[in-house]
Amino acid sequence: MTVHLTIALSKGRIFQETLPLLAAAGIVPADDPETSRKLILDTNQSDVKLVIIRATDVPIYVQHGAADLGVAGKDVLLEHGGEGLYEPLDLRIARCRLMVAGDPNHQPRLSRPRIATKYINTTRRWFADQGRQVEVIKLYGSMELAPLVGLADYIVDVVDTGNTLKANGLAPLEHIADISSRLIINKAAMKMKHARIKAIMKQMATVIDA
Ligand code: ATP
Ligand code: PRP
Repeated sequence: MTVHLTIALSKGRIFQETLPLLAAAGIVPADDPETSRKLILDTNQSDVKLVIIRATDVPIYVQHGAADLGVAGKDVLLEHGGEGLYEPLDLRIARCRLMVAGDPNHQPRLSRPRIATKYINTTRRWFADQGRQVEVIKLYGSMELAPLVGLADYIVDVVDTGNTLKANGLAPLEHIADISSRLIINKAAMKMKHARIKAIMKQMATVIDA
């Protein structure tokens, strides 16, 4: 019986860094999402297709079964909450750290400090767990700008080299979590398509361990 599989990926670093893992599982995309306008990509395997979506949408597609598998950053998964998903494999790609950052010399406002971030749930949890009262402002990108123009006292964002923070006169201040991308699997698909998915996981794992 043919088992059809849909895999959700985001463009950019996750797509690029997932390519060798897919190749280990014998899956090669027929198109490059950087040049193609297609949102559904065929692969060399007639029963496997890729859907190309925003990074934050990957767990949503997989949770609802619109994709069987996906690759998502742990930052995105912490924020999503992981409902309806299995997260069986750390792919060890797109590695970075989720951090509180700001100007180390900045004097925060006396009332609740303002934190700008796209990770509002994770940020609320981080400060609430320590009994620190903050006001969280939701942004969709370019978080580093917020402290420079007085929108916020601090930001919560992912940091890799630290170059973006440094270029904007900011510094990492508190480490919230180490981040890497994870293979995520729809819970029903894991049951219904178990053998096929298990085989892919096993083949991917050989490359990760190497
Ligand atoms: P979108 O562009 O759709 O808003 P995004 O900018 O978060 O999403 P990417 O930049 O492709 O999308 O990031 C995808 C994932 O890669 C993130 O969720 C995070 O886990 C990781 N990541 C983000 N920035 C870096 C970085 N500078 N270095 C390493 N990994 C990163
Ligand atoms: C992410 C993140 C930071 C930056 C951190 O943005 O939002 O702005 O990377 O990386 P750094 O510590 O190495 O500077 P984005 O996805 O735009 O980064 P990119 O420019 O690497 O794609």
